[in-house]
Amino acid sequence: MQTAINRQFRLASRPVGDITADNFEYREEAIPQLSDGEVLVRTIYLSLDPTNRIWMSDRPQYMPPVEIGQVMRGGGIGVVEQSKNPNFKTGDLVSGMLGWQDYALALGNTGLDITKLPNPLPYPLTALIGPLGMTGFTAYFGLLDIGKPKAGETVVVSAAAGAVGSVVGQIAKIMGCRVIGITGSDEKCRWLVEELGFDDAINYKTANLETALAKSCPDGIDVYFDNVGGAILDAVLTKINLHARIPLCGLISTYNATEPVPGPYNYSQILMQRSLVQGFIILDYVPRFGEAIKDLGQWLNQGKIKYALEIVEGLENAPSAILKLFDGSKIGKLAIKVSQEPV
Ligand SMILES: NC(=O)c1ccc[n+]([C@@H]2O[C@H](COP(=O)([O-])OP(=O)(O)OC[C@H]3O[C@@H](n4cnc5c(N)ncnc54)[C@H](OP(=O)(O)O)[C@@H]3O)[C@@H](O)[C@H]2O)c1
Repeated sequence: MQTAINRQFRLASRPVGDITADNFEYREEAIPQLSDGEVLVRTIYLSLDPTNRIWMSDRPQYMPPVEIGQVMRGGGIGVVEQSKNPNFKTGDLVSGMLGWQDYALALGNTGLDITKLPNPLPYPLTALIGPLGMTGFTAYFGLLDIGKPKAGETVVVSAAAGAVGSVVGQIAKIMGCRVIGITGSDEKCRWLVEELGFDDAINYKTANLETALAKSCPDGIDVYFDNVGGAILDAVLTKINLHARIPLCGLISTYNATEPVPGPYNYSQILMQRSLVQGFIILDYVPRFGEAIKDLGQWLNQGKIKYALEIVEGLENAPSAILKLFDGSKIGKLAIKVSQEPV
């Protein structure tokens, strides 16, 4: 799996609707040469995230879109292969926006920043792709900082069997809440309840959502962690309690839309129930990541947080694997294994 060339996927065109393979251009380049101050990083894991779809479009967003012809942006974990930077040495494990490629040049004048991971690493490297990575931090700060769940309250989370949602629900259980997950298959519902300890789970593809929510949330909904928007948000709004909190994390049901998406029909409930809706972007919490690592790491060690990973082998499969974020065909966190972990 280790290559002598640098395989890359560059953005070839902006998707209209679903992502297709021809939105990417495959290239083989020489492994880049280092200048002073730079390091050469070999990608081990490449994270595939719904936000990749946002970056591929040129709609208004929280970072500049990926330009046509640029290497596709993507977060990853890698290992330093060569260094001309005094703060990094060969063998250091690092994380950063390594992109859809085998090798990335970082630091110096490259414009790419990287973070050194602890050595020795107290957790498996894959935990840093999962709950101890960006998606775990997103769950942690979105739920605790904005959702502010209190023991005994009811928390509902959508895309509940995904990377963010599965951690949200487990943190809410740790906080003493009743937790209901909304997801897209019976298998995922079973995983949430039987493996992760959710109180109930609803398959939004087969259930009447309003009826199912009324049954699962007899005391109403105090916190709705929204990963999805659209019809699911509308159904949840009919059941929110006075002073409900809605951390707005994502809107995945709209990312492939080709027409403008209407706002929630039940918007008036936010007024009637004096509820709080707050959008957030995890990058704003970078200075506080240490708090999340401490708590999530402890809960992981105590077995209070479990996680599933769908690791697809091979960079060449990234353009097809990313579709799994939208077709519901994976449980937990999706990533590509680009090359072997160091032994
Ligand atoms: N604000 C931030 O800083 C931040 C950071 C990370 C992620 N996010 C957002 O958080 C959300 C979850 O991200 P993730 O990384 O944890 O992804 P994920 O949940 O692991 O994967 C996406 C899941 O969304 C569900 N989904 C896809 N299309 C859907 C649709 N049309 N309607 C309802 N559900 C749909 C699918 O599961 P089902 O089988 O349940 O349909 C899919 O597995 C995304 O909206 C993402 O953009 C935001």
